[in-house]
Amino acid sequence: MSQQPVLLPYADPAFVADPFPLYRQLREDGPVRRAVIAGGLDAWLVTRYEDGLAALSDPRLSSDVQDASDPRLIKQLPRFERESMMSNMLRSDPPDHTRLRRLVSKAFTARRVAGLRPRIQEITDRLLDAVVPAGRAELVADFALPLPVTVISELLGVPADDRHDFQRWTDAMLVRGERLPDPVVVDEAWQQMRGYLTKHLASKRDRPGDDLLSALINAHDEERRLSHDELIAMSFLLLVAGYVTTVNLIAGGIAALLANPDQLTLLRERPELLPDAIEEFLRYDGPVSPGIARFAREDVEIAGVTIPRGATVLVASAIADRDPARFPDPDRLDITRRDNGHLAFGHGIHYCLGAPLARLEGQIAVGTVLRRLPDLALAVPPAELSWRPGGLRGPARLPVTFASPGDRAG
Ligand code: HEM
Repeated sequence: MSQQPVLLPYADPAFVADPFPLYRQLREDGPVRRAVIAGGLDAWLVTRYEDGLAALSDPRLSSDVQDASDPRLIKQLPRFERESMMSNMLRSDPPDHTRLRRLVSKAFTARRVAGLRPRIQEITDRLLDAVVPAGRAELVADFALPLPVTVISELLGVPADDRHDFQRWTDAMLVRGERLPDPVVVDEAWQQMRGYLTKHLASKRDRPGDDLLSALINAHDEERRLSHDELIAMSFLLLVAGYVTTVNLIAGGIAALLANPDQLTLLRERPELLPDAIEEFLRYDGPVSPGIARFAREDVEIAGVTIPRGATVLVASAIADRDPARFPDPDRLDITRRDNGHLAFGHGIHYCLGAPLARLEGQIAVGTVLRRLPDLALAVPPAELSWRPGGLRGPARLPVTFASPGDRAG
């Protein structure tokens, strides 16, 4: 295909604030579009829903970066990605993927997640107790971030005192703020994170608890089915995947409601729509944007376009989730939407392992905010909201006002 690759302009604040006009244009231009993504890398964007769904379960498309032909891909990866990501399940194919995923699935059961409900509600209420009297808050730092950080730390058995450290390291590595991270800072943060995890895992081995990491160590020690590097990579993946996306679901969902007051009113009137609303937030403006990377193991034809072996394929879930051929009136936030089979959690063998936890946290967080913060409104004009650029998308800050108990008494 003789198409010029299109640049995704992450340095342009207008694109970062609202990528959907360009996403729409890319989808209308064709089902497969070449694009230059972060780091100047070339990728083939799959923009339509049905093709995206098929691509995510196509075994010819690998999750292992070593199947990429562009040597820059491996060279450019920060050291932390090379060391941490290459032996984790997200970046591996069967049979390794099957073995790694089975081990975690055994420990990360639906029962364990459902049992977290009262504790998630308690953490949510405690965080809101701290902001309610002021009548204003910055909902990312005060709420949407600390909630999933606390939940995943408790689940993994990471002590409360250590959370600020790992949150700082992860921020340096992944959460991009308004600028791309400095590679030296990224590598330093990874060294510290890896050192921390090694120490923490050793102390869990001496004193196991009723937590997920202890269960994984048990699998490592007794069954020898998990190498030390895999154990570190797995702990890192769970810790990080456990919150960097969920913060964006919570803050992005609240931002979407504030930008669509009819839907906010409807949800306040009909709280039973909350589970559907969470699915709609994920479809409408999901945290993974524009999508999910794969590497072509051989020449692969998608919608009549031949993608060469070794190419990076970006299954653009955020673009496909607004495909009008799949979702009627796709640019409208509609919390009553039925049959919402969005791709925000992926599809196929890598389907998000944390989806039940993310859904539960999203429902409790958004439901409690609506109940406890009446007259919720943005404290800045919508055009002044700042967003994280690319990869993981969501509001960088979400300043809001609401009626405090003092207002009501007065
Ligand atoms: C995989 C999104 C929350 C753990 C994925 C994938 C997506 C995704 C798109 C598939 C990646 C691929 O196919 O390459 C999200 C979103 C979340 C969320 C949007 C929140 C709204 C969580 C949470 C956890 C988690 C809370 C953990 C505790 C994982 C893991 C995988 C994964 C371990 C890898 C699964 C595999 O490779 O088999 N997630 N995630 N995620 N997610 Fe999530």
